[in-house]
Amino acid sequence: MPEAARRTSEILSVGERMDALDWKTAEESLSNRGYAVVDPILSPAECASLTALYKDESRFRSQIIMERYRFGIGDYKYFGHPLPELVSNLRTNAYPHLAGIANRWAEALGMTGLRYPEDHAAFLRVCRKAGQTKPTPLLLHYEAGGYNCLHQDIYGEVSFPLQMVFMLGQYGRDWEGGEFILVEQQPRAQSKAEVVHADQGQAIVFTTRYRPVKGARGYYRVNLRHGVSRVHRGTRYTLGIIFHDAK
Ligand SMILES: [Fe+2]
Repeated sequence: MPEAARRTSEILSVGERMDALDWKTAEESLSNRGYAVVDPILSPAECASLTALYKDESRFRSQIIMERYRFGIGDYKYFGHPLPELVSNLRTNAYPHLAGIANRWAEALGMTGLRYPEDHAAFLRVCRKAGQTKPTPLLLHYEAGGYNCLHQDIYGEVSFPLQMVFMLGQYGRDWEGGEFILVEQQPRAQSKAEVVHADQGQAIVFTTRYRPVKGARGYYRVNLRHGVSRVHRGTRYTLGIIFHDAK
């Protein structure tokens, strides 16, 4: 079996698949660019099973029609408790790999009092203390003409500095356009945009809000926002994994 197929094979648990990813390379990419694209994690069948949940209203706590808030054109749904097992496994098993990076970023930014716990359950207790108890993993859906304005996913005073989006379909086959966009506001300079490509089953790990950038006199903080450019054809489904819960 080819390596990539073996890794996304459902024979391996989600935890084993997460552990097999090259997190060192991902951290380098995150530190240099504010994002990383990791090897495929989800099989096509798992992507299809997640996409199929979109029609099952009982799985979700709320639906946002983006046009109503001028967030863009498209809609997304936040999963309710209990989260689907696969979604919960992705969130729980990715978190420990990212907490190390989050702590090194906090240290670089001089946030000495800030320490992200090593496991996600402990981080959710921090969220709970701040009144953030609603789950934030979500499915996003765009048809041709849809897009998502640049934004940050902040739902209260507690936030985790990294998040993930999983491609549930394939660019070029299921949709065209609809690129993931990351814009970095550099201090005293013009903003910089990156278009980030990932294939079905892959995830983009990206900066939720701020990342440290090394300057001549130590690290400084840059602000990032993300969005999706207009979908020209087809239907685009993705799974968003945000690690902090919402108020
Ligand atoms: Fe977002």
